[in-house]
Amino acid sequence: MEKPPRFETLAIHAGQAPDPATGAVMTPIYQTSTYVQQGVGEHKGYDYARTGNPTRTALEECLAALEGARYGLAFASGMAAIDTLLKLLNPGDHVLASNDVYGGTFRLFEKQYRKYGIEFSYAELTDLPAVSAGLKSNTRYVWIETPTNPRLKVADIRAIAQMAHAYNPAIRVIVDNTFATPYLQQPLALGADVVVHSTTKYLGGHSDVVGGAVLTSDAAVYEPLQFLQNAAGAVPGPMDCFLVLRGLKTLPVRMDRHGENALAVAQFLADHPKVSDVIYPGLDSHPQHAAAKKQMRNAGGMISFFINGGEQATRDFVARTKFFALAESLGGVESLIEIPAAMTHGSTQGSPLEVGPGLIRLSVGLENKDDLIDDLRQALMGV
Ligand SMILES: Cc1ncc(COP(=O)(O)O)c(C=O)c1O
Repeated sequence: MEKPPRFETLAIHAGQAPDPATGAVMTPIYQTSTYVQQGVGEHKGYDYARTGNPTRTALEECLAALEGARYGLAFASGMAAIDTLLKLLNPGDHVLASNDVYGGTFRLFEKQYRKYGIEFSYAELTDLPAVSAGLKSNTRYVWIETPTNPRLKVADIRAIAQMAHAYNPAIRVIVDNTFATPYLQQPLALGADVVVHSTTKYLGGHSDVVGGAVLTSDAAVYEPLQFLQNAAGAVPGPMDCFLVLRGLKTLPVRMDRHGENALAVAQFLADHPKVSDVIYPGLDSHPQHAAAKKQMRNAGGMISFFINGGEQATRDFVARTKFFALAESLGGVESLIEIPAAMTHGSTQGSPLEVGPGLIRLSVGLENKDDLIDDLRQALMGV
């Protein structure tokens, strides 16, 4: 029997047969809003581009293959993907989420969906008794980010999925797999029901596109979600789908190198006298190092840390790095540095999820790791 293709092969070929019309090896960018019909309702599977576009179909099939999902849906951004999943809920439903999530996710939960009567609570998902205590009779989603943004906490997906499903089989366990990517971590194989992505990050991989996706094998989630993808229309354009598809082809090699570079940078920081605390799931000192080793191929490219000297010293430090550009976002080939409290996670201020002003987040890119370490060393000299 023929063996199913492996991850690296799927990243290059899934959903992407050479174009039947011309033989083009790369999936064409079908830059069209509509499709001719031979007679009323007689067409080649596409009638209007909000409903479907062949470049988008290729991306959806490729992402589904990479996550081991039956179904894939692409969205205009990660937040559009998350928003569409939240629209499946009804007033009175409860979402149990990680107490450390992307600031935009928290903002959407609290500022928009709470007013529709959806209940949100936040638990320490690295602590299984706290997960158990957080489940309620009206819980519909358990919302896991792992590793979390920005504290890089690692939740045990298999254990949480087992616990949630044992409590109530109707609960959907959703994993935001943006930080890990399907190359490093396979939530559906670990028992989760749904995976959500910001494809803006590692999947696109080159900081040139904004996108999102939902992957699932559950038809009861997929069907209403597909309805909303068309009915509400937060869809990505064909050029953006093409860019993510192109990024996916090199995902495995990029993630190997992101992990290698990040480990070297994390070890350098951990040994530096002016660095007070380094959070990287690949270090033995990380509280969930064992869980990360169990469910991730490597610990990824994100590092958070603190330096000595307080808030102003931290702000001065992030302005001194040269290769680490001071910018929001992550997951591109170039290294980035930011202060979540002042940048990506401003929306958590004053909430139990508040991120302290001293936390620095790195997205370690694919430059030579010694240049990255030299850059941090020179910036730390001024501290
Ligand atoms: C973990 C995580 N999920 C979702 C999002 C939202 O994605 P987007 O910016 O593509 O809307 C982000 C953005 O930073 C993120 O870090």
